[in-house]
Amino acid sequence: MSRVPAPMIAIDGPTASGKGTIAARVAGMLGWHLLDSGALYRLTALACLQQGIAPDDAERAAAAATALDVQFEPGSVRMGGRDVSADIRREEVGNFASQVAALAPVRTALLDRQRAFRRLPGLVADGRDMGTVVFPDADLKIFLVASVEARAERRYKQLIEKGFSANLLTLLRDLEARDARDTQRANAPLAAASDALVLDSSHLTIDQTVGQVMDWWRERSASRA
Ligand code: DC
Repeated sequence: MSRVPAPMIAIDGPTASGKGTIAARVAGMLGWHLLDSGALYRLTALACLQQGIAPDDAERAAAAATALDVQFEPGSVRMGGRDVSADIRREEVGNFASQVAALAPVRTALLDRQRAFRRLPGLVADGRDMGTVVFPDADLKIFLVASVEARAERRYKQLIEKGFSANLLTLLRDLEARDARDTQRANAPLAAASDALVLDSSHLTIDQTVGQVMDWWRERSASRA
């Protein structure tokens, strides 16, 4: 008996392109599961930091990824029973995550864990390699982009609204450096799948971006019905 996999939408794109927000909104509208794959790399980084594992120790970092004891709940994530939602967003953890994410054994160790999220009624997954490596048979693949200026401005506004100080030029340079690291790494680099639809949100609001994804999904599911 062949099993038809649950429907899924893969949303990939560079840092601060708004993938997380768009994926969460689309999953909410469809009533589907949500996978924030970046959180798994951040959790692996946090586990490494806690256990004193160096960011280039591929073997021990992969073992830490395999052993992750995590529970995702709406709006929060627990590791070893403790709410680590704020910890994994720390800058130090994000930087460590981008280093362990470049290690092939770590990426392999997280594959099955990511694929296990694909359950009925459906999944929206966001990351860098959802459409290329983790779910190459996704029903709809979106590559969400925005100019580096638009992304830096969005991040700047978010930080100021949260009461943090920020410098637009520094944010812009940081984004350019992370884009370069993510696209140039040897393992699963950030790239649009050949069958992905590219969505440039530089001049779109969140609602307009979500609306475009939903329109594409309706067209795709109608053409397959
Ligand atoms: O999306 P994010 O900033 O939470 O991701 C954290 C790090 O993990 C980032 O440096 C890129 C990496 N990552 C990855 O390599 N592959 C994914 N599918 C998701 C994130």
